[in-house]
Parts: sequence; C-alpha cells; structure tokens
Amino acid sequence: MISNIITKGINGTPQIPGDKSISHRSVIIPSISNGICEINNILKSDDVLHTLNALKSLGVNIEESKNKIIIQGKGLNSLNKANGEIYLGNSGTSARLLTGLLSAQKFNSILTGDKSLSSRPMQRIADPLTKMNAKIYTTKGSLPLTIERSNLKAANFDLKIPSAQIKSGLLLAALNTKGITEITENKVTRDHTEIMLESFGANIEIKKIGNKKIIKIVGQKELVANNIDVPNDLSSSSFFIVSTLINKNSKIILKNINYNPTRNGIILALKKMGAKIKLINNRKNNNENICDIEVISSDLNGCELGPEYADLMIDEYPILSIAASFAKSPSIFRGLKELRVKESDRLKLILLNLQNCGVNCKSENDDLFIFPSKEYQIKNNLIQTDFDHRIAMAFCIMGTKLGPLNIKDSDSINTSFPSFKNEFNNLGGNIF
Ligand code: S3P
Repeated sequence: MISNIITKGINGTPQIPGDKSISHRSVIIPSISNGICEINNILKSDDVLHTLNALKSLGVNIEESKNKIIIQGKGLNSLNKANGEIYLGNSGTSARLLTGLLSAQKFNSILTGDKSLSSRPMQRIADPLTKMNAKIYTTKGSLPLTIERSNLKAANFDLKIPSAQIKSGLLLAALNTKGITEITENKVTRDHTEIMLESFGANIEIKKIGNKKIIKIVGQKELVANNIDVPNDLSSSSFFIVSTLINKNSKIILKNINYNPTRNGIILALKKMGAKIKLINNRKNNNENICDIEVISSDLNGCELGPEYADLMIDEYPILSIAASFAKSPSIFRGLKELRVKESDRLKLILLNLQNCGVNCKSENDDLFIFPSKEYQIKNNLIQTDFDHRIAMAFCIMGTKLGPLNIKDSDSINTSFPSFKNEFNNLGGNIF
C-alpha cells in the first residue's frame, strides 16, 4: 500500500468501526450466558472473526447479519469440544481470553495462530491459570497450546504484568470455577471485561485503592443475557485524530467513541501537547463512557510522558510517535517495555521506520526519545511492519506529510480496521 502526501487537509465525519476489545468480549460473554443476546455495531475484523468462529466451533449458535449478531447463550458449562484445532490468526486477545475460558471447560482444546501470534508470550496466562490447577502445555511458552480438561480451584492473584488480557483470561476461568477468586492489579488496565460481567449479573466485587484494584469473583453463578451496542473504537480513531492535528486546514468529528478512563491516555497525551480536541455529548451506554470528538489542526509541542501513560494507551504509541515527529520540541515516552511483545516489537519498528523517514530518535531502557525537525530527508521509504496493523496505519499517517511511503504487508490492517483506507480517502487521504 502506498500512502502519499495530502495538501488540502483532512475533513469530514469518518465512520470509525466498533471497538475491538469490546467486540471480542461481546462474543465470548454472551456465548456463556443464559438467553438470547443481540449485539449491534460489532467490529467485523479478522481478529474478532477469529473469536466468533472459535465460539461457533465450540457449539454456540451465532446468527450474523451486516454489523449485528445474535447469540444464543449456552450457559457457563455447556460449550462443546471443537472439532480439531482452534485457529486464532493474529489475535492475542482471542488467545489469552480463550485460554482462560477453555481451561475451565470439561474437554481438551488446542489453540493455534499465525507466525506473529505463535511467537508471542502465552506463559503469562498459562502460569497463573496453572495456579488454579489448569493443565496447559505451550510450545516454548507460545502457541500452539494444548489445554487439558482439569478441575479448577479458586485462587488469589497479585498480577505483576499489567495486562487486561491476562486479567480477563483469569476472570473467564474463575466464572466457571467453584469458590471466590481474587485478582489484585497493581496498575490500571482496560476494564471492559469487568464492566460487561457486572451488567450480565456476575457475582463480582471491585475495590479500588489508588491505582491498585482488587476484583473478587464468585464462581459458578450463571450469567443473564443482555443486549449490547458496541461503541466505536478510540484506538482506531487515533489515526484520524493525529492526521487531522498534523495536517493544516483539517477538521473532523468522530461519533459515538468509547471513552473509557482506563484507555483514554492518547487524548490526555495529545492535549498535553497542545492538541485542539473537544469531547462533546458525553454519555453512557452499557456502562461504558461514550462521547463525540471534534479535532482541528494544531501546532503541537513535545512532551514527557511517564510510564503511567503506557497503562492507559499502550496501543497508541506508534501513532503518538508520528504526532511527536511534527511537534515543535522533543518528546520522551517512558516505560514502553510491553510494546515489545505486541503484534510486533513495536518499539523496534517505531525506531527503525522513523529513522528511515529521517526522524532523529532513540530508545534507552525502553524509553523512547523523539527529536523532531522542520524538514525530513527520507532514507528509505519502504516501511517494515512485520504484519502489525497499528504500525501500518501509523506510517500511512506519516505518508500524508512525507509520502510516498510504501507500507509493506499492509493487509494486516484488516485485523482491526478493514475500512481504514476507504474512510481515510473519503476525508481527503491519498492511499492507494
Ligand atoms: C487488549 C489488551 C491489551 C491491548 C490489546 C487488546 C484487550 O493487551 O494491547 O490490543 O482487549 O484486552 P495486553 O492486555 O496484553 O496489554
């Protein structure tokens, strides 16, 4: 895919797709509830379709129409053994959540994935589940992974790695396990699972003490189906937000965006840099915060962000780095260790591709330093993505200023935002 310079700015009201994290949960949780659940605006991207097909292969009846699905829940303990391996493509969220879910079922399962997913760490979910008596066999710590039927017991956890995927996998296992499981989180991670479980009637109690959070869940209480309207995805929005900020004569309005305080770091960071962003029509739906977002072209300053920002915006550093490259002063983003174990080593690819675009940047101890300049001399316009959708989309936005950039393996964008190119070109983008 080639992303080229734009001259007239970005303008309009793009259709941002449904939130990816909430969409995964909107398939899994209704599938193990009692009753029929209608889910609107679900994201139909490759990652979510892998979760959806996995649940179908486990015997759940899911009817699909355009961007709505209807799920007939089977209850906590009535999934069926899949006929063969369950293939999860590129999706880390599917892998970690389903490992938890399936370790508490009464049959064996095998999970597989593509090359990138098969190199990502799975021991981080297998180890705590093993403490619950789960029997999980990874391949050198990754997929393929076998889950053997086992009787789980409730346990207490003090989570050291900040990860909503690990927390959610444990919650899904605990749901079908007798007794009280207690999970202590020491850092903030996205809380979509807890929010949805509460609204489906789970016996869950949450206490917050500063950034620490203690979740108690009583297992084997059946869930009650609830309809869901999936809000639109702030992470997908961030590519449009930054392209508007760094291109002159631009203005966009994003509608119905999920503004969950455990995930809004990108907006806080951009505002700190002087971005003209207005949040309007704040409201709630299915207990998630929603708003519309107005963005106009802005002169950005650099900023220093501590590691606490990484907890609130881990997926947004690729696109934030593009914004920082067009700021008036340097930026430092600290504590980006988790970026190394995403769909790619994102810290490595941000540095490599920015440097190829002529941007002066470096990393030291997982901190990223960006020293912007007024003009850039491109050294190599082939952008290496290692099939990572967020690296591909971030450098498409870089292309609007420095193009043409040739984005390698850009099909990965389908994992989260299949309509990205069309929506972006409708606003005045130049991607082909
Ligand atoms: C996600 C959690 C995050 C995030 C990923 C989606 C989720 O991963 O990076 O894109 O839906 O729970 P970690 O939990 O590994 O930080």
